[in-house]
Amino acid sequence: MRAATPQDKFSFGLWTVAWAGKDQFGDATRAELDPGAYLAPLAEAGAWGVTFHDDDVVPFGSSDSERERILGDFKKASDAAGLVIEMVTTNTFSHPVFKDGGFTANDRAVRRFGLRKVIRNVDLAAELGASTFVMWGGREGAEYDGSKDVNASLDRYREGIDTVAGYIKEKGYDLRIALEPKPNEPRGDIFLPTVGHALGFIAELEHGDIVGLNPETGHEQMAGLNYTHGIAQALWSGKLFHIDLNGQRSIKYDQDLVFGHGDLLSAFFTVDLVENGFPNGGPTYDGPRHFDYKPSRTENFDGVWASAKANIDTYLLLAEKAKAYRADPRVQEAFEAAGLFEAAKPTIAEGETLADLLADRSAYEDFDADASGARETNYVALNQLALDHLIG
Ligand code: GCO
Ligand code: MN
Ligand code: MN
Repeated sequence: MRAATPQDKFSFGLWTVAWAGKDQFGDATRAELDPGAYLAPLAEAGAWGVTFHDDDVVPFGSSDSERERILGDFKKASDAAGLVIEMVTTNTFSHPVFKDGGFTANDRAVRRFGLRKVIRNVDLAAELGASTFVMWGGREGAEYDGSKDVNASLDRYREGIDTVAGYIKEKGYDLRIALEPKPNEPRGDIFLPTVGHALGFIAELEHGDIVGLNPETGHEQMAGLNYTHGIAQALWSGKLFHIDLNGQRSIKYDQDLVFGHGDLLSAFFTVDLVENGFPNGGPTYDGPRHFDYKPSRTENFDGVWASAKANIDTYLLLAEKAKAYRADPRVQEAFEAAGLFEAAKPTIAEGETLADLLADRSAYEDFDADASGARETNYVALNQLALDHLIG
């Protein structure tokens, strides 16, 4: 396997490696270091970029001068480590004030406070040269259906996102918003639970042109959905602005495992799509390969750095396999036999009208549906070729 390069654009949330292991059932199992202390080892592991929430670096409630000093130090440390700050995000979920959300809280004063906190970080993101502003609305949701007027909540969500997007445009910042869907956890149900819900929401925005998605592997899989198909549809819609890669094993709590340590075959096809694009061409993803995982609570710092590197190594191994898969003549033949290239041919030919189709007897009256129903696809053999490359 080759070594990671800056062109790979591997990046990590600071909150991933800095997670000390405190969970609902137990205390931290690792020390909490100064935020800057995680940067050099991250770069050492192969990272090109780092991302963070405001509160990961600046304690909630810090004064303006304290904030400025802390951020200045952090920027110096990231420069020293050679890391790019490619994305910045706002924590609107930890403090008790956000227990009912930031943009959709029933309490209006909370929403005004949340909006101010987010806008402040948009300025910071622009100042630090980030190109993406992720918005994960983890507390935007409910435990009880009766506690929300969902129509009003979605109006408020739209108002919030449009206000931020409008502000970005007004300031002329070179920044795009990426919404991150998640079905549940910490709320019983989170608004915009999946890629599809979020795409539908973006279509209702006034400033939707600079709003896209940051889909996370495990979040789609928590809902039993296909992550690769999710990012594929986001690409198709021109909305894949950023990705959160990690591992999840089936429908359960958000495991945040190392990328590939969940559904490996799905991870293979994710990398295949990100690296090689669609078989017939089309939109491609050129953004950061961002990991949002948690070093398991069983690990100490050796394990933290081994797990960070495991994300990158797994990605690079899969990228190698996916390249070989696409270059394999047997795979190209199987693509052809499976009709993958025919899928790109419009159903109604260029210049043909619906009237032409209705008049085409070979399409219906004379069409042998039974013979067609008996056709061979060899999809299974094609999938086995992927397995061949993956584990052969
Ligand atoms: C989670 C989310 C978060 C977000 C982060 C950045 O499930 O906790 O994935 O880690 O990605 O808040 O927006
Ligand atoms: Mn997650
Ligand atoms: Mn995430």
